[in-house]
Order: sequence, then structure tokens, then C-alpha cells
Amino acid sequence: MKRSSARSFGFTLARPLAPLLGLLLAGLLALTPAAAQQAADAQAPERAGAALTGAKTATGKNWMVTAANPLAAEAGAAALRAGGNAIDALVATQLVLGLVEPQSSGLGGGAFLVYWDAAQKRLTSFDGRETAPRAATPTLFQNEKGEPLGFMAAVVGGRSVGTPGTPRLMETVHRRYGKIAWAQLFRPAQHLAEEGFAVSPRLAALIAGDVETLKRDDAARAYFLDAQGAPLKAGTTLRNPAYAATLRHLAAYGADAFYGGELAAAIVRSVREADNPGLLSLGDLREYRVKERAPVCAPYRGYEVCGMGPPSSGALTLGQILGLLDSYDLKALGPTSPEAWRLIADASRLAFADRERYMADSDFVPMPTKGLLAPDYLKGRAELLKGDDALPAVSAGEPTWDHARAEPRADGAALELPSTTQVTIVDADGNVASMTSTIEAGFGSRLMVGGFLLNNELTDFSFRSHKDGVPVANRVEPGKRPRSSMAPTIVMRDGTPVLALGSPGGSQIIGYVAKTLIAHLDWGLPLDQAIAAPNVLARFDAVEIEAGTAAEGLAPELKALGFEVKTAPMTSGVQAVAITPDGLIGAADPRREGVAIGE
Ligand code: GLY
Repeated sequence: MKRSSARSFGFTLARPLAPLLGLLLAGLLALTPAAAQQAADAQAPERAGAALTGAKTATGKNWMVTAANPLAAEAGAAALRAGGNAIDALVATQLVLGLVEPQSSGLGGGAFLVYWDAAQKRLTSFDGRETAPRAATPTLFQNEKGEPLGFMAAVVGGRSVGTPGTPRLMETVHRRYGKIAWAQLFRPAQHLAEEGFAVSPRLAALIAGDVETLKRDDAARAYFLDAQGAPLKAGTTLRNPAYAATLRHLAAYGADAFYGGELAAAIVRSVREADNPGLLSLGDLREYRVKERAPVCAPYRGYEVCGMGPPSSGALTLGQILGLLDSYDLKALGPTSPEAWRLIADASRLAFADRERYMADSDFVPMPTKGLLAPDYLKGRAELLKGDDALPAVSAGEPTWDHARAEPRADGAALELPSTTQVTIVDADGNVASMTSTIEAGFGSRLMVGGFLLNNELTDFSFRSHKDGVPVANRVEPGKRPRSSMAPTIVMRDGTPVLALGSPGGSQIIGYVAKTLIAHLDWGLPLDQAIAAPNVLARFDAVEIEAGTAAEGLAPELKALGFEVKTAPMTSGVQAVAITPDGLIGAADPRREGVAIGE
């Protein structure tokens, strides 16, 4: 791929083109034109967004960025236009997402990155997941009788806050791969935080739905509600001077300024002094580490579908679903066939049964990681799909262990709410970044410090630590990372990436990604149509069908096959980039505000 021309928007390359391009770029605006325009538009909300260049689908010869908000995608595009790479764009995009889509991700949360390093021809992954405080115990989310707390009682306040990983993740990968100077990548977010941005319709709707919990934290109330306590409306110009100050600090001093010093002290104070206090300490922040991990890959129809292994269940569960389906001809059945959806639904239920039993942070609990994707094991489980009707009951299988078999395991239960965000980027050198980033539920713990929200990631642990005396793999333990469903994915063919994608959506993420892959790879739908295709998935017992879509027509036949069927809104947020011989195709889920920008 050809390098994009260095139209510059205030970014300068730190290496290796810095000497040359730095001169060219010196003195230019410190803000992308689109972001500057947007700041002006904030004064005239009816025009907001007029200058933004993103679209639901885009093509590009050189690079592509897709993100859940147009301003965030624009910041990534500015980095790429300036000759930055996928990691530069990722950092710039994430910093703006933390401002304009604060309910989904940010400095107070965690993220997983799957990354193709084109120069090294190497696929790798980075785990920036939150950790449980070292003072946490398996009873963190239980009352004095050992019973699980109510979910929202656990979420709101300090108890659910894990040690954030996103700042250290951004710094780790930028130090390894970045070309544009760290501090410059903060400029678009800093400018928007200072000058203001227009509250998007999605953010406004979510604030309106969360007024009571946002009121419980002084900083969150002051930021998201007006002086009368009413939720901010779409189009309102929102400034975030506290976030601008945090960004200035991190730009100057790096992630250490987050994990120590005044900001760390403020985070710990907020968690410990909340009305539902938590256990996070300065030591937890100081000791936080990002972990580079080998990606987990599973074969499907001649591709390798690669993603994030434990502590995420994303790639293993997705790989199991696809592996169970590989011997069934979904292409011949087609997307409107109830038989195709019977197979997909029951393959998903089988995979989720294994997930509940075995998957957790493998640094803490032994896992049959290889056994769960072993071809013989999946072949045996796939036999279960041979009937004509829905499986009446589904339970975990018995995969082989590549070390001594662990203690007996009970099935866990973790309610993961659909929040989170996905950024997918391909740069002009062919590097590919697929990152899913989160603060867990919408608005996380609702605690706001330094202009960003703190996560409630610890509620991704199973509240029950044991069942009938048998331990649950995903129980809380000090320093452990809660199991995730995030599934940032890169699909490989012949050792080269051909597609990158991911989605928000809690434990529905896995089904959203599986549907998109099946629709694109089996049914041949163009990427945007594969994303837009109705979501139909199964996690536990019921088949879930996206309300208001043609897939509702499947309900009577699926019920006749013996499935319990539920219909509900299913707001996936898939951001994907296909890498084809003719160039790049970017697509953003029509259900959310995301866009793709390519050149
Ligand atoms: N909190 C969403 C996930 O990790 O899956």
C-alpha cells in the first residue's frame, strides 16, 4: 500500500520521518480542521457535524479508521493523514472517544488490542484489562449471608471499580510502535475538551435514561445534568475542563501521571469515599501492568479467525461457535433459513456452556485453553447438532487439559451489560489494529474523576464464588482480571490479515461478531450489509432476535423447533475493515453513531 500524502493537522512524526515531515508540519493548526469546525459548530448545534468526513461505509487505497463517534474517527484520520500509523491513530481516537462517548470507554477503563505488525509479519495481542484490587476477596459481591448482591447495587459506587488499564495500554503500544509524538496525539481531544463538543443524540438519550444513578456522584451530576438536575440535551455544547487538564498532564508526563501522583490519589479517594465504597489502593494503581499475550486463532472456512484469549472469553467462544459450524453448509442454507439459525443458536449455546464452566483469567485459574478449540473435541460437540430440533438442555463438555486437570468447576454467572466501544484501523503500511475498549456498563461505576468515568469492570466477575461448595472459575480474586466477552478480531488468510472487526455489547458481542462473520464469509454479503443484517444470537437458553427486523419472522419456526425465543433491541456497534486486493472497505454499524473514514 502507498503511504498517504502527509496532509497535516498539527501532528508531527516522532520517528522515523520526523526530521523531514516535522519541518513541513511545523506551525500548522494544533487541531484537525474537522475538529475545529466542530468546535465552531458547537455554537450552532443545528449544523454540528457538517464538516465531518466520515460515512457508514468508506473505501480507501491507503488507510481506514472506523470508530463509534465521528469526532473520534476524525482524530484518528488526522493522525493517519499526517503519516502516523495505526497505533498513533488508535491513541488519538481513544482519547476523543473518552470525551465524546464517555459512557462507553475512557481513561478509567480497560481494553484489549489485537494487532498485526506488518513489518514483522506478526500478530499479537495486548491485555489492558482492569484488575481486582489486591484487597478484594471472592465475597466482594455477596451480602453477609453469602448471597449475591443485586446487580445495580454492586455497580454504582466504588465497589465495582477495577484498576484501569487503558492509559498504560495506550502508552505501551505507542512506545513500541508509535511514530507521532505522544503529546501531539492528545491535541484533538484536548481542544475539544476545552472548546466544547455537541452532545450526540445517543449520549443525550443515555444520560436521560440514567439520571438517578448519575446524580449519586457530585462530579457526574455536575457534568451530565444541568443546573436544574435535568439531563443534557442533544446538541448542547459540553466543555470538559477537568478532562483537558488530565490530558495535559498525561501528554506531558505519560501514563505514570495516571498511575501515581495527584490523579491516582483522587481516583483512590473517589472509590473509597463513595457511598458504596471500594477497595482500590495506590498500590493497585502503581503495580498495574499491561500483558502482551499470544492471540487465540480458530480455523473457519479456510480462514484463521484470531482474537483475544483469556481473560477474554471472546476469541475462544467465537472460535468454538465457528468450529462447531464448520462442518455444516450454512452457505447452502442461506440467511433466511430457520435451519441455519437452529445450528447457529445451538452452537452458541454449547460454546456458552463451556464459557460459563471453564473461561476466566488463566493467570489465576487453570484452563483447558487448547482443549476448548481442539478439532476432535469440537467434532464431538458438533455431533450434538445433528438432530432436527433445538437441543433441550445444554451443558459444558469435557475438553482435554494440556496440564493436570483443575479442581472441579461450577458454572458461573456474570451479567455483562451492553456498553463498550470498538475501534478498527488499517494504516498505509498495512498495520492492523482491532481494539475493544470499555468501562463496562453505560457510565461505568458513575464515579467521575479528572473529567472521565471510572469503570465497573469488577461486576464482570461471577458474584457467586462457589456453587454447592464447588468453585467458579470467574470468581473474584485479588489481582485477577474479570472475564470479558470482548472480541477484537483479525481474520487471516494465508498468513495475511483480510478483515478486522469487533463490537460493543457485553456478552452479546460474541454473537454480533459471529453473525457478521457468517453473513460476510458464508453468505457473501458485502461488509456493510453483513453488519446491518438482523442480529440473532443465543447465549444461554433463549434465542434472542433483534426487534423490528425481518428476523422476527423466524420466531414461529424457531419456537416450533423447541427454542425459547425472545425479541429485544440489540444495538450492536460493529466497526470493521476489509482488506481486499482492490483496497480497503470500512463499515460502521448503522445502529450507532460510528463512521468509517478512508483515503
Ligand atoms: N465489560 C464488557 C466485557 O468485557 O465484555
